[in-house]
Amino acid sequence: MTAIPSVTAADPAAVDASFREALAHFCTGVVVVTSLDGSQRPVGMTVGSFTSISLDPPLVGFYAGRTSTTLPHIAGRGRFCVNVLAADQHELARTFAVSDADKFAGVGWFRGRDGCPRLTGAHAWIDCSITLRQTIGDHDLVVGHVEALAVSGDSDPLVFHRSIFRSLKDAS
Ligand SMILES: Cc1cc2nc3c(=O)[nH]c(=O)nc-3n(C[C@H](O)[C@H](O)[C@H](O)COP(=O)(O)O)c2cc1C
Repeated sequence: MTAIPSVTAADPAAVDASFREALAHFCTGVVVVTSLDGSQRPVGMTVGSFTSISLDPPLVGFYAGRTSTTLPHIAGRGRFCVNVLAADQHELARTFAVSDADKFAGVGWFRGRDGCPRLTGAHAWIDCSITLRQTIGDHDLVVGHVEALAVSGDSDPLVFHRSIFRSLKDAS
């Protein structure tokens, strides 16, 4: 493992060089955020920044890059579904991380409570309506009120750490 020397904001170039590498040490779950475009076609993108925000009211959120082609559709629809990927869905995570591709070709899905796509085989599904969209740096924070959810209960979640997709079983 390559060590990263201590850097400070006094040396912005050093921070730039180390930023991605250092943050890759933080492991996340992996979700695909889906919605529908203006023609009712399914859209979606892989997201690692998903987080729970509030219990009462029930709020969740994620950060989408300002250059994302999916973000305008999610914002325009005002609704999205968080598909928590299962450990065996790493190929799906790669598919939905490619911009402007035909991401739903050959992908099984069905409509959730408000019509947003729920991906077949996902670990859990969370249907949300947008309550806040706020630009922060080069990303938008999108906050959603949880309208419905379901957990399949028979799979492990997918984990992402240092650019590698992993299963919780890897740790045992
Ligand atoms: C594991 C993983 C996590 C990611 N997390 C995010 C994220 O939180 N926010 C984001 O904007 N992009 C994230 N991406 C990158 C997007 O999935 C990628 O930019 C995608 O091309 C966006 O597609 P779009 O331009 O069609 O919306 C992630 C990619 C991977 C592989």
